[in-house]
Amino acid sequence: MKIMGLGNASREHAIAEALERSEHHPRIFWLGDIGNPGIFEICKRTGGDFALSKTTDSEKVSEYAKRWHVDFVIIGPEEPNFHAVPDELERRGIPCVGASRDVAMIEMSKAEMRRLQWEYGIRGKLLFKTFRSAQEAYSVLERYSDTLTWLQNVALKPARQAGGKGVKVVEDQQLYLHDEKQRFKSKHADWLEGYMKSYSDIDDKILVEEKVWGPEYTLQCFTDGRCIKGMPLVQDNKHAHEFDIGTETGGMGSISGPGFTLPFITKEEYEESLKIVDFLVRAIQDKVGKSYHGMVAGQMMLTEIEGPTIIEMYSRLGDPEALNVLNTLKTDFVDICLAILDGNLSKLNIEFDEKATVVKAIAPKGYPDNREMAKDHPVFVDRQAIKREGCKFYWGSADIREGGEIKSAGSRLVEILAISDEIEKASKMVDRCIPHVKLLDSWGLFYRSDIGSPELLSKRMDVADRVRMLYQYRRDKDMLGKRVDWLPKVGKMDPVALLRDELSKRGE
Ligand SMILES: Nc1ncnc2c1ncn2[C@@H]1O[C@H](COP(=O)(O)OP(=O)(O)OP(=O)(O)O)[C@@H](O)[C@H]1O
Ligand SMILES: [Mg+2]
Repeated sequence: MKIMGLGNASREHAIAEALERSEHHPRIFWLGDIGNPGIFEICKRTGGDFALSKTTDSEKVSEYAKRWHVDFVIIGPEEPNFHAVPDELERRGIPCVGASRDVAMIEMSKAEMRRLQWEYGIRGKLLFKTFRSAQEAYSVLERYSDTLTWLQNVALKPARQAGGKGVKVVEDQQLYLHDEKQRFKSKHADWLEGYMKSYSDIDDKILVEEKVWGPEYTLQCFTDGRCIKGMPLVQDNKHAHEFDIGTETGGMGSISGPGFTLPFITKEEYEESLKIVDFLVRAIQDKVGKSYHGMVAGQMMLTEIEGPTIIEMYSRLGDPEALNVLNTLKTDFVDICLAILDGNLSKLNIEFDEKATVVKAIAPKGYPDNREMAKDHPVFVDRQAIKREGCKFYWGSADIREGGEIKSAGSRLVEILAISDEIEKASKMVDRCIPHVKLLDSWGLFYRSDIGSPELLSKRMDVADRVRMLYQYRRDKDMLGKRVDWLPKVGKMDPVALLRDELSKRGE
């Protein structure tokens, strides 16, 4: 069997490795925008091949798949989905595990995902407004933020998935800072309008969403379009530095387990989250009339207003979240891919080890704000030493050059994973491996020691307990998902009804 994959991050290294472990012993072929040394090695070892190519170019990707006569293609990152790579492959008769462009809209357009949730009445939704220009956004924020109180505390986002850039959460609760906060919102709206100029594939430019608060987690799933199978929950840690400070990154590390839930998310919350993702997949299929076959994920937050709530959807696995689940997966990954392609997923029993996992990313200084500074540093990894610590190692943003030299490529350089019976133990195992990764020109690296530590876990549990108490209270009083605004001289007003009204007018 021959399988071709796309992408070049640690997530794709882990996907290639999961394929290599299969009883089908596939030959692995790969296309990457840069040369991930780990994937390169797997291709060589399995008798496959590796080529550098633009992974969003559907024609080129299809030509490689034809040239290599692969049985199917699996897609790692989201951009090939947005660029209709799965559609082109299928048009040429090459099966593809990956979301076609229309269904990948649930990730590509954060605005469309929200509209879908409201249109189909799917739980875990937030109040939102979309805009086509900064001026439009700003005038609404200015005009209504006294009356619609949810417009005071908001997340300002690019309406499209824009590679983890541009989301700002602004709380405007102190009257004496109101003007400054409004100025900041308007400045950021301008920035978003400029940033979105590089994307012509979507009409909405700016998304303003009510601000919520609570612990975040990712629920990744397999789907063949008919049934959806959830994987163990993972929590990713976005901030660059210890205890959630610093810029947001693509993810500095993630934890899972033991088993399907996390220490701060209950079984019931897992089930509720799975229902939400399931309904969203059904809704997008219904809306666009196409089947979803591949991986899908809900990036969730437990909130006081709704309980499990969607922050955004992924039309693929997360990075680093993919490492946590693929390393506890007991079922043959190739069998899962084949079941997805054949529409037989409901018949396959997918099992995971009841273990805890911790992944930590190591990045060169400069990432994420100044990636140029983080680029082109020669890398050395003592892989034997990492193995001796009982951990696993994945290449990320690293480029293998002619002659075999490996250089940093500006983003998260490597990810290290440990599996244990407790998250805290796995975290310590990874920490012991950190000195085994070095830049030979002595440029600095950083990572987060706190991920999976008892201190951070207890912080997450405290937040989850508080949020849970509030949303359960609301549920008991039949107030879940309900919001009330108070208008001076007018009285109570229901922003949910207002939004519904607006959306139905739009649909007319
Ligand atoms: N409505 C909201 N209320 C509060 N916080 C939010 C809200 N929306 C987003 N955030 C915060 O901002 C982060 C990034 O938002 P989101 O996931 O939508 O954007 P992103 O650019 O796709 O980020 P990434 O690609 O890094 O996941 C979230 O993980 C969450 O912490
Ligand atoms: Mg996100």
